[in-house]
Amino acid sequence: MISFATLSGLSMLVNLISLAAAQSQQAFQFTTDDASVNDQWTTFPQRIERVAVIGAGPSGLQAATHLLAANLSIRLFERAPAPGGQWFYTEETPVREQYPETDARDTKIPPDILPATRYYEEGDGGISLDERWREHWHPRPVWYDLIANSPADKTRLPGVNYAPDAAWEVSVHDVQRNVRAYASLHRLNSNDNPISSHAPQITSYATRVESLHKGNETDTWTLKLHRLEWLPESKRLKAEWWTEEFDAVVVASGAFTEAKVPQIKGIGNWSKVKKDKKYSIYHAQSYRHPEPYTGKTVLIVGASVTATYLARSIAPFAGRLLCSVRPNQYRDALGWDILFRFPEKAEMIPEIESFQPLDDFTAGIKAGKINLVNGSAITEIDEIILATGYNTETFLPDLVKPRLPNSVYWTGHYMDDRPTLAYTLFNEPWRQGEYAGLGFARVWTGKARLPSRERMWVNMKSGKYNFGKAVDFLRQEGLCRMYVSWLNSEALEFGGQLVAPQLLERREIWNYWINTQHKKDFISHENWTRFEQLPFDEWPQPRYPSAKLVSW
Ligand SMILES: Cc1cc2nc3c(=O)[nH]c(=O)nc-3n(C[C@H](O)[C@H](O)[C@H](O)COP(=O)(O)OP(=O)(O)OC[C@H]3O[C@@H](n4cnc5c(N)ncnc54)[C@H](O)[C@@H]3O)c2cc1C
Ligand SMILES: NC(=O)c1ccc[n+]([C@@H]2O[C@H](COP(=O)([O-])OP(=O)(O)OC[C@H]3O[C@@H](n4cnc5c(N)ncnc54)[C@H](OP(=O)(O)O)[C@@H]3O)[C@@H](O)[C@H]2O)c1
Ligand SMILES: *[C@@H]1O[C@H](CO)[C@@H](O)[C@H](O)[C@H]1NC(C)=O
Ligand SMILES: *[C@@H]1O[C@H](CO)[C@@H](O)[C@H](O)[C@H]1NC(C)=O
Ligand SMILES: *[C@@H]1O[C@H](CO)[C@@H](O)[C@H](O)[C@H]1NC(C)=O
Ligand SMILES: *[C@@H]1O[C@H](CO)[C@@H](O)[C@H](O)[C@H]1NC(C)=O
Ligand SMILES: *[C@@H]1O[C@H](CO)[C@@H](O)[C@H](O)[C@H]1NC(C)=O
Repeated sequence: MISFATLSGLSMLVNLISLAAAQSQQAFQFTTDDASVNDQWTTFPQRIERVAVIGAGPSGLQAATHLLAANLSIRLFERAPAPGGQWFYTEETPVREQYPETDARDTKIPPDILPATRYYEEGDGGISLDERWREHWHPRPVWYDLIANSPADKTRLPGVNYAPDAAWEVSVHDVQRNVRAYASLHRLNSNDNPISSHAPQITSYATRVESLHKGNETDTWTLKLHRLEWLPESKRLKAEWWTEEFDAVVVASGAFTEAKVPQIKGIGNWSKVKKDKKYSIYHAQSYRHPEPYTGKTVLIVGASVTATYLARSIAPFAGRLLCSVRPNQYRDALGWDILFRFPEKAEMIPEIESFQPLDDFTAGIKAGKINLVNGSAITEIDEIILATGYNTETFLPDLVKPRLPNSVYWTGHYMDDRPTLAYTLFNEPWRQGEYAGLGFARVWTGKARLPSRERMWVNMKSGKYNFGKAVDFLRQEGLCRMYVSWLNSEALEFGGQLVAPQLLERREIWNYWINTQHKKDFISHENWTRFEQLPFDEWPQPRYPSAKLVSW
């Protein structure tokens, strides 16, 4: 077994320290008289009691569950009015994304003095109540007939199964129910009343975390919070701002937050065009149903999961379907296009060079000319959908902006500060989220150790802890092996239940899924068993370069 300590070449030290820790009254400080030993591990000067979790998606719900089980005092903040994260489907769509040459509308000016309460009426500040509400919680980029691109068995939370006769290609609605069921089961869903008459109030929906600051003198984090509430009888929105203090914070806010608009020449001009009061060019985040595309000529921009799945949704309805795809060295060289299948109806066209300016902004884009990089031009397009991905760096700007992928340890702990801040940005929250939640709870209650900040940086800079994108299946498996080894070896020292590795039969389900849904003979049982025989140093390297990993 690869234990965390032997990985760092410190097995001797570990024995020393575990002895010392066992003798100490408060294991969580790992204090001995030997300063060189203390230097090896992260220590927390104060007991961690109050923990905030930001986001009630698959990751945040699991973190909150394990932190609660460790008897920490938890608050769970979610900007949406319900749990589910990305899987919370609504007919509501996000506020329109930002295009070049369009002034940003700032609806977010908080009062100077907190706590504060304001009431908004229709049209206050030039913004409708509906838009103010949608800006606040940001409806999700999922559409009505979205089918998960992972098998049912791999797209559910621990302890919550789908119905025995459910299809194994699960719909967004099934996944939404699964996540909500988990939230209710663990008493985190405050919509599912009564939670418990004497339970402390844990979850606050429609509550957006606006900022996160660490005090200079204290080691506590201050969250600035903003909640909106509909007052239907008076047709108003009630807005509240306040702050709360925490000893530790888990940021589980997801990766696909802000729609990425490609900066193609002329796109600002076209973005203002409307037909029948609707924009003709928009990001995929607002796509909901295929029926309105009946008989239309639709252009989808992009070649990844959204572009291809959306193309399959629209294809049976559209008159003509064009897809603008640019070459991608990794996708093309590594065969990842197996994961991104366009329907037969899709006509592939090259990347767009520019949009020729339009004079009339009310008649749609049909007469407009789109220049392609190969020198030709296309016209007669009814609607353009930008399936061009998402930016992650949208909230908590003061912290997130300087964040690099490598400022977060492989366990999720933030290394630029004392690691009482942690992120849950995993490719596979369904199985890694539980381990991560246990890791946060145990580190913060003194039942698992983290190396000192210096050692964490050394480990991360060595490059060993890059687990790749979701498509790096074996490397992702490696992350789970790391967790199981670390959590269990620490549990032997400090107590705590052992965690189970992934069930072996789940691999076969996954193999079958990939090989039948995507590419024949892509992966076999042998790949996994061979991987298991490899020492850590020989694990296959991620196949995407790390610069490409910033998707989280
Ligand atoms: C269109 C689409 C399809 C996908 N399909 C699949 C699939 O088939 N299979 C799969 O495994 N994965 C899929 N994913 C990935 C998906 O993101 C994960 O399955 C999963 O939802 C990630 O869980 P999470 O909890 O980390 O983040 P999320 O589910 O994104 O949840 C984050 C939560 O944090 C909240 N939040 C963010 N900022 C704040 C704030 N400032 N204050 C308060 N709350 C905040 C958000 O409202 C959100 O509810 C898909 C993603 C997209 C966009
Ligand atoms: N059914 C499902 O389960 C499902 C559906 C949708 C999304 N998802 C998930 O959602 C996440 C986001 O996926 P996504 O597809 O929205 O984003 P993405 O993976 O970031 O893909 C964005 C795509 O847009 C392309 N692009 C960007 N600018 C372009 C331009 N100017 N011209 C042409 N192409 C351009 C990119 O090309 P380059 O690669 O060359 O940059 C890429 O192909 C993923 O995790 C995915 O798995 C899942
Ligand atoms: C949490 O508190 C309860 C009640 O005091 C106790 O029974 C339980 O053992 C505690 N759990 C942990 C992990 O400390
Ligand atoms: C914390 O200290 C830094 C540097 O001394 C200072 O710039 C900053 O204003 C202080 N912040 C607060 C909230 O006191
Ligand atoms: C450019 O691409 C378009 C769309 O695929 C195609 O019809 C056209 O023939 C191409 N032109 C050249 C010069 O290759
Ligand atoms: C778009 O381009 C046309 C033609 O150059 C110009 O008349 C119009 O003002 C532009 N509109 C905007 C909003 O940029
Ligand atoms: C599985 O192993 C085969 C044979 O070594 C290899 O060609 C293939 O790339 C592996 N598949 C994956 C997904 O790593």
